[in-house]
Amino acid sequence: MTAIHPPADPIGVLRAPDAVHFGRGSLASLAPAVARLGRRALVVVDPFLAGTPAFAGALAALDAAGVETHVHSEVIPELPVESVVAAAEAARGIAPDVVVAYGGGSALDLGKLVALLLSQPGPLSDYYGENKVRGPVLPIVAVPTTAGTGSEATPVAVVSDPDRELKVGVSDAALIPRVAIVDPDLTTGAPAAVTAYSGIDAIVHCAESFTAVDRAPDWAQTLPIFVGRNRMSSLLALDGLRAMGDALPRAVADGSDAEARDRMAWGSLLGGMAFGSGGTHLSHALQYPIGALTHTPHGLGTGLMLPYVLQACFAQTSDRLALMAEALGVATGRSERDDAQAAIDRLAAITVEIGLPASLADIGLDRAELPRIAGLAAGVTRLVALAARDATPDLLERILDAAYDGDRSRLV
Ligand SMILES: NC(=O)c1ccc[n+]([C@@H]2O[C@H](COP(=O)([O-])OP(=O)(O)OC[C@H]3O[C@@H](n4cnc5c(N)ncnc54)[C@H](O)[C@@H]3O)[C@@H](O)[C@H]2O)c1
Ligand SMILES: [Fe+2]
Repeated sequence: MTAIHPPADPIGVLRAPDAVHFGRGSLASLAPAVARLGRRALVVVDPFLAGTPAFAGALAALDAAGVETHVHSEVIPELPVESVVAAAEAARGIAPDVVVAYGGGSALDLGKLVALLLSQPGPLSDYYGENKVRGPVLPIVAVPTTAGTGSEATPVAVVSDPDRELKVGVSDAALIPRVAIVDPDLTTGAPAAVTAYSGIDAIVHCAESFTAVDRAPDWAQTLPIFVGRNRMSSLLALDGLRAMGDALPRAVADGSDAEARDRMAWGSLLGGMAFGSGGTHLSHALQYPIGALTHTPHGLGTGLMLPYVLQACFAQTSDRLALMAEALGVATGRSERDDAQAAIDRLAAITVEIGLPASLADIGLDRAELPRIAGLAAGVTRLVALAARDATPDLLERILDAAYDGDRSRLV
């Protein structure tokens, strides 16, 4: 089989930071990067990372570069909206001219949303959805410590709002950090569960943007944030999968495996840039209600659902899946069909190797809840519309049913 690289999708859209600094030691570039953007920095940092020598060193370097810093380290997982508003209120008196966001996806998303609230009138709910931000926000410099959400490069931030049944997202190009500083060394301390859940989500970002629907945009209109699979997102997603396929099980098994950490940090960055234009689809749509009902981490839900979702989209995406098999190192050389199946089987095996629960039953869901979950997921129209096939509530329920029993063969 001949690999087409990059895959010849008809359109290409890229959303990315002005600068990406990737590599071990790149944290040293934080102070000069921030000093170019402002003199007074609000530093939003994950509470665990706030106590690390690397963070202390970064603050000292900012001070030496003449940047005044104000640290906010109250980052509540799942980002309740009132914690975002409180962080923005506290920061208003400081009047920062740049925001540094340092930590996992939660800290990065908090930094992005505080930058938004300090620049544009509230309430935050005005910005839920796509393309709702009307002007620029404070410049953001993002330093991820998980691999990862890819939030350092995406136009997205996700919050929990008690007024909404599901988590909600603000998706707007204004939220893309100006500079992403991705130093794989910062992820070395992440415990195995965090590595597993955030890492599989990065793989899902690549797999879903690579198998999303491709459709012609109306170039004369403001483009939707997620335009569907395209030449840029495909290039990034495939390379992300190539980097992460065997690195994730290695990073989970041995957190000090520097090469595996390096590959994961690179792959999650590419995954963020890939889904920042290409979007994600059904694993993410299904995770929203699953996560809300079970209070399980985002990546656990997206990772658990991915093999079932890809199996359900097999007929529409087998050419893409076969290319994924090559990137994952499991191409059979027999036929496109065999390669496509090998890719799904390999992704399913990765979820087992990293210790994800094997079924929806294992995370404590009741089978009777599946129709409701399917209905709620069907309502996440921006994601469902990106699937390569028509995802009716009935199809979503069939996917959930197969995942409930851990039986992919039902979807073949
Ligand atoms: N903005 C986006 O594009 C985007 C994409 C996907 C997911 N998300 C959101 O990101 C959040 C999940 O982010 P996450 O998976 O990075 O987890 P997280 O930021 O919630 O962190 C999880 C835990 O890991 C700890 N941690 C982080 N880095 C560490 C390190 N280096 N060493 C030790 N502990 C560390 C944190 O203290 C926390 O306890 C969810 O809210 C999800 O909805 C955002
Ligand atoms: Fe995700």
